[in-house]
Amino acid sequence: MAFNTDKIANGLMENYKNLFSPLQYKKISILEIGILEGESLLYWDDYFKHSETVIVGLDLNLPQVEFAERVKVFACNQNNNEHLSEVAEKFGPFDIIIDDGSHFRKETENCFEVLFPYVAVGGYYVIEDWAAGYWRDRPLYAGMVELVSDIIIRIPELSICESRIILEKNKALAFFRKGATGWQE
Ligand SMILES: C[S@@+](CC[C@H](N)C(=O)[O-])C[C@H]1O[C@@H](n2cnc3c(N)ncnc32)[C@H](O)[C@@H]1O
Repeated sequence: MAFNTDKIANGLMENYKNLFSPLQYKKISILEIGILEGESLLYWDDYFKHSETVIVGLDLNLPQVEFAERVKVFACNQNNNEHLSEVAEKFGPFDIIIDDGSHFRKETENCFEVLFPYVAVGGYYVIEDWAAGYWRDRPLYAGMVELVSDIIIRIPELSICESRIILEKNKALAFFRKGATGWQE
């Protein structure tokens, strides 16, 4: 099956598959911010095999796509804390949260602050395309690199047990894995 998400075009999906293969047949809960045409949600629905896995998507606008029963989509602004918390209370804790939404600092930071507490121990919080912050000719994305740096500084306080930065031409991902304790213990 072909899926028209830039995660495949830019090679990020290979990184995701390396990371998530231990979860492929487990019952998990995944939340992706940024649905666009729904292709990444369709991909996750195909990739994660457990029938009780739940795949949640959020976006300002929802595409005209008939998703499977286990794929739940919500029209939700990344800045709407009340709505974000409502969705997280209903479907969390999440084994995976991927922020592939606006890629603006304010929104990305807001989602991290509201949603990181809803990552399960052992789960992943992923910020995609954070390197847009290097594009000095597009100030809308300013602050994204600093946001990732700020989270790295807070790793002990956030009980993050593992983190990786993937940065190549045209692809960027930063993941933060929640531990029962921080990386030092
Ligand atoms: C890069 S696209 C998502 C691509 C999709 N994840 C995929 O891999 O096919 C980014 C999406 O973020 C959404 N978005 C932008 N700002 C947002 C906001 N403030 N709240 C919610 N979604 C937002 C856009 O509507 C757009 O659909």
